[in-house]
Amino acid sequence: MAPVIRSLEQEYDLPGLPVEGKIPDWLNGSLIRNGPGKFEINGRSVSHWLDGYAMLHKFDIEGNKVTYRNKILHTESYKQDSSAGKIVSQCFGAVPDPCQSLFQKIRSTFSPVVDNTNVNVVQVGEHHAAISDLSPMLAFDFDTLATKGPLQFKDKFEQTVMLSAAHPAQDYQTGELFNAVSTLGPLPRTYLYKISPDRPYERQVLAKIKSRGLFYFHSFALTPRYLVMVECPLRLNLWKMMKATFANRGVDTSFEWRPQQNCRFHVMHRATGKVQCLEAPPFFFFHIANSFETDEGLVIDLCRYQNPEVFNLLYIDKLQNQGMNDDHLAQLYRYRVDLQTNKITSARYSSDIVEMPQISPRVAGQPYRYLYLSGRCPGTPQRDFMNQLVKFDLKNKQRATWYQAGSYPSEPIFVPNPAGQAEDDGVVLSLVLDASQQHSFLLVLDAATFTPLARVRVPHHIPPDIHGGFFSRNVPLTRPQTPTNAPQPVGKASQLAEPAEAG
Ligand SMILES: [Fe+2]
Repeated sequence: MAPVIRSLEQEYDLPGLPVEGKIPDWLNGSLIRNGPGKFEINGRSVSHWLDGYAMLHKFDIEGNKVTYRNKILHTESYKQDSSAGKIVSQCFGAVPDPCQSLFQKIRSTFSPVVDNTNVNVVQVGEHHAAISDLSPMLAFDFDTLATKGPLQFKDKFEQTVMLSAAHPAQDYQTGELFNAVSTLGPLPRTYLYKISPDRPYERQVLAKIKSRGLFYFHSFALTPRYLVMVECPLRLNLWKMMKATFANRGVDTSFEWRPQQNCRFHVMHRATGKVQCLEAPPFFFFHIANSFETDEGLVIDLCRYQNPEVFNLLYIDKLQNQGMNDDHLAQLYRYRVDLQTNKITSARYSSDIVEMPQISPRVAGQPYRYLYLSGRCPGTPQRDFMNQLVKFDLKNKQRATWYQAGSYPSEPIFVPNPAGQAEDDGVVLSLVLDASQQHSFLLVLDAATFTPLARVRVPHHIPPDIHGGFFSRNVPLTRPQTPTNAPQPVGKASQLAEPAEAG
């Protein structure tokens, strides 16, 4: 059985959900998930999963006291489509409004009108915001999930931003947030920026990226000294984008995969803003799992695809009727970036199909051992896409899994035990859709043993979501200042787990 992509029409506010099992008393905070939650307007459906209208889901957790609420985000896209009674502002397969005037068509090509921020959630200063790979970020009320409006920054980018990553890189020690923006204009440009805790609403430009043009990006590698932006050869062709708008096609037809070109690793020294550019054979990725420094340079672990064909497989009819071949999905690779020789090597960690990597925030940017992912259970039909949770022990090359037939877990969010010392002392939270029962539940796993501690059922289904975060009320996410067993800031390559086979 494949997960059913269908709308959740109702907004719920459910106090006192029954808990099966025991949630640790120290777990105190809010899990907020974001993803496509509504797919129809006036009986017509969007055609691409990523065009589903953004919906937030929130579990407030205080030990075994758990409440749930959900709300659709009132983005400009949603409001415009709802009032028009038709789908007019989608990014991928859906047809933009053919009744737009010439001026409106030109304007819609060059302004961030598609604000369906259905990918991730992030905290900027005192605000919480929904975010996607298109600007602007959309602030929401942390308690009620009500939409507030676009997050306002005091800088020059507001009207010109085209692309920005749904995964800003966070330095949990300094509180800094790193991202990039690609701006439109006579000459499109991509800038790396940071947001400092003392200037939370100002994007401070750190460096300009020398790229081959506009390119798609989704996440970064961050270590204490470096910020890395990996440029895959997936380009956004502005001329095609204009033509797509006039021909009432989705923006997806404007992307070009150029496998004859290498990937570029733009390695920015955080202290100076100086960028070193290295090249590697072409690949595609969404998510960097973690990165850290070695004597030679950097190690970057990421979930690698051969190409971006996965975008084309996310049309709802294909997802539910055809599924995905393993060849179109991702595996974990380790990249070694030698900053002295300008060489990049890579190796596949295992043949497991995995995505949505998560780690303990205490080891972000540091040598680490444990990685938590969504995965596909070997031998399941290709319509049955990501259907298990995986924990990799990178040191001992061991794997633990959680699997329940007919169930589809979201990305596994690791929350550290505030009193714990071991890297995997904590819990893993995942929102699971039980397709056979057509309801969802919050799964709480003991991260060390990867066995269930508790599950919290909601009386309805929650459409498969994309990303989220846990906002703690009492768990310090930064690394302890004097850890007893934490890795050293700069690791030796020889001490690290070596990948299983060359890729
Ligand atoms: Fe993502």
